[in-house]
Amino acid sequence: MSAAAPTTEAPVQPNTPFYRLGGTPVMTAIVERFYDLMEQDPAYAELRAMHAPDLSMMRKSLVGFLTGWAGGPRDWFDANPGKCMMSAHKPFVITPAVAGQWADAMQRAIADAGIADAELSKAMAGVLTDMAKGMARA
Ligand code: HEM
Repeated sequence: MSAAAPTTEAPVQPNTPFYRLGGTPVMTAIVERFYDLMEQDPAYAELRAMHAPDLSMMRKSLVGFLTGWAGGPRDWFDANPGKCMMSAHKPFVITPAVAGQWADAMQRAIADAGIADAELSKAMAGVLTDMAKGMARA
């Protein structure tokens, strides 16, 4: 009998929001929809203007952050040791209006992701809304 090949991939823990929300396909769907809305809906023009012209790095980074944050694989946190989302946003001037744009686009993206667990979907939208609004300064 040969030993199993070592793997660095941790098994997905079923009792995590990440797993219960639908794992990587759902996190990716949320983030793709979020940045599509940001790019296409003029209601988010101010928020869009704060970001770099090419959003492909952001699309990858936000999937990685949300994945680890929700209890999934922690690659983003391993690659960004000690990085705090609140401090990382300190250099940006985030008004309540622009924080509202972020929260609104994220709420729509989560609602469009077809998450089966409605309660958890609502909870995720609520926590991210609070996080976005907490980054605002008047
Ligand atoms: C409150 C409104 C927010 C605004 C205006 C905002 C704006 C920005 C901007 C301008 C960047 C840099 C993007 C670039 O260089 O193109 C950024 C990066 C990022 N934001 Fe936000 N953000 C907000 C809220 C949030 C929230 C609530 C989260 C997490 C749930 C988040 C997650 C991220 C991530 C993961 C990055 C990339 C950081 C990195 O990989 O270095 N943002 N944000």
